[in-house]
Amino acid sequence: MSRLHTLTGAVATLFAAASLGAQTPHVTAATPEQAGAYLLIVGSCHDCHTPNWVESGGKTSKDSLMTGRGVGFMGSWGVNYAKNLRVIVDRQGEEHWVKTLKTADDGDGHLPMPWHNTALMSDDDLRAMWKYIKSLGPAQGERIPRGVAPGKAAPGPYIDLKTVKPDTVKKP
Ligand code: HEC
Repeated sequence: MSRLHTLTGAVATLFAAASLGAQTPHVTAATPEQAGAYLLIVGSCHDCHTPNWVESGGKTSKDSLMTGRGVGFMGSWGVNYAKNLRVIVDRQGEEHWVKTLKTADDGDGHLPMPWHNTALMSDDDLRAMWKYIKSLGPAQGERIPRGVAPGKAAPGPYIDLKTVKPDTVKKP
């Protein structure tokens, strides 16, 4: 092997190692859909977006996965609801999904949706979740109310997330 050849080989190996090191961590599985199914569980997405997921310890029927929860969250943002992502994924493409989760819905997103965490997920992982939800097909569960601004009447049941400070003052 010529010296030039050996040198080119060494440089190529170096570049390969460098690009491997720079790779964003992401979940690998036999298919992106399998990675997506796993990510929705460990990312706690079902806890809020799948009805009865928490109450049943994660044993809900496939029909209801990601169809949203009709019990909302009240906070400084008003009252909002974890939406039906089966319908949203059916209507909106993969690029839109990635952008929404990276940018907290262009800055319009409110808590308790963990926008701060999804913004840090790799594109591969975000795309895998979209592909899995898409593979489930659109499904309508319970009706998910639209969120309302602070001071407006809640359109459905909700959990109050306001901080309560316990009364630490000693009673006489
Ligand atoms: C603590 C509850 C909670 C968890 C956990 C949660 N979400 Fe949400 N999600 C919400 C709520 C509430 C909204 C509505 C937010 C708003 O009003 O801005 C929402 C909104 C969204 C939207 C925007 C839908 C749209 O286009 O309007 C997407 C996409 C989404 N969630 C995906 C996810 C994914 C993926 C995960 C897991 C990584 C997840 N959510 C985890 C509560 C949650």
